Amino acid sequence: MQTQSYYQKAIKFAALKHVEQNQLVPGTKLPYVVHLSNVAMEILIAAQNSTDFDVDFAVQVALLHDTLEDTTTTLEELSEAFGPTIAEGVLALTKNGDLPKSEQMGDSLNRIRKQQKEIWAVKLADRITNLQIPPQHWDTAKKIAYQKEAILILEELKGGNAFLENRLRLKIAEYEKYLQT
Ligand code: NI
Repeated sequence: MQTQSYYQKAIKFAALKHVEQNQLVPGTKLPYVVHLSNVAMEILIAAQNSTDFDVDFAVQVALLHDTLEDTTTTLEELSEAFGPTIAEGVLALTKNGDLPKSEQMGDSLNRIRKQQKEIWAVKLADRITNLQIPPQHWDTAKKIAYQKEAILILEELKGGNAFLENRLRLKIAEYEKYLQT
């Protein structure tokens, strides 16, 4: 199967799962699939600028990365449809809701670091995509915390993908402008 076919299968699966939750991109009227396709776009461009990068694997994980966290999708279902390696990768990218909120990101990053580098790349791409104009209801403290968390992701996933690390570093610097208001 070619990359385009993997992409189509994964985006249709994920889009339907997120639509069932009526999930939108936070702070917008856009369907959640816009976030997923943006993460996949970052991965496709990073793949062109990286060596030893399994683009078929990474693009599927990018499109599926929030299915376990935000929808009714189960690990078994993902494993059956996309294989156990993709399912395990998505699981590493999923926050453990049983932990206190303050520990969830660190725990997920620890699990991501045990996965192959494409999973690190999806996490970097996810935060790059999310460092846009913050939702209107966010106060300055929330924005500062979000930028700080992005810096943690960049530090913890150092060595994951040089191209995406550079992009995230740039987006973190650009985010400064939202902290002034
Ligand atoms: Ni995401």
